[in-house]
Amino acid sequence: MSALNTESSFGWVTRAIHWAMALGVIAMLGLGSYIARMEVGMSNLWLFGLHKSIGVVLLALLILRLIWHLASPPPRSLPADTPWKDSAARWVHRSFYVLLIAVPLSGWVGSGASGLDVVIFERFTLPPLAPTSEAWESSAFAVHFVLTKLLALCVVLHVAGALTRRDGTLRRMVRG
Ligand code: HEM
Ligand code: HEM
Repeated sequence: MSALNTESSFGWVTRAIHWAMALGVIAMLGLGSYIARMEVGMSNLWLFGLHKSIGVVLLALLILRLIWHLASPPPRSLPADTPWKDSAARWVHRSFYVLLIAVPLSGWVGSGASGLDVVIFERFTLPPLAPTSEAWESSAFAVHFVLTKLLALCVVLHVAGALTRRDGTLRRMVRG
């Protein structure tokens, strides 16, 4: 089992990062919507910490993924049955990279601007990325809200695309 990507296959490092992030992103879309709507009390406050911690791990994984792809470029996508599906897939992949940087950063900016420490796994305190201010907080969370809806749309399109192909595209990402 090769760690490196080749011209026609995904190595296990790319596949492991892909599936860890897929699981994390889907769980975070659910957890984020839950915490934004729950009645906040002492008993469920920890869910905010969990959401922030996983979000920062996902940002780190995205950076790792980019570095890994510079070291070991992934294979080109297999051609789809119509050209518009190829460009749609390319745009969704690009959007994932942009959104998976902008979504955690907007959450981090908003959380820091609230004046509370951004504590990861109850251990590491991250520096605030913006001054403590209601304007910064509400603008950053408005951005976080909109971008997470775009991210959810990309996930739906991406999964629909992957599941409707019968040319080995999914097998390549599952088994290499
Ligand atoms: C939900 C979060 C997900 C994200 C952020 C994500 C992201 C990506 C990205 C950026 C790529 C391009 C290759 C790369 O850069 O590594 C990719 C490829 C792929 N993904 Fe996902 N993915 C997600 C979930 C899924 C799910 C649930 C499935 C299966 C149902 C899936 C199936 C695939 C397949 C088959 C490819 C290879 C496409 C090709 O060869 O062109 N992904 N994914
Ligand atoms: C890929 C990573 C992330 C995803 C997918 C994500 C997703 C979400 C979603 C879907 C919501 C609910 C938005 C709404 O419907 O109102 C949310 C809220 C929230 N997120 Fe994230 N998030 C991520 C990263 C982060 C990070 C890194 C932080 C902070 C360090 C953060 C802090 C928050 C906070 C505090 C809320 C609640 C906002 C409110 O009460 O209105 N998120 N997130």
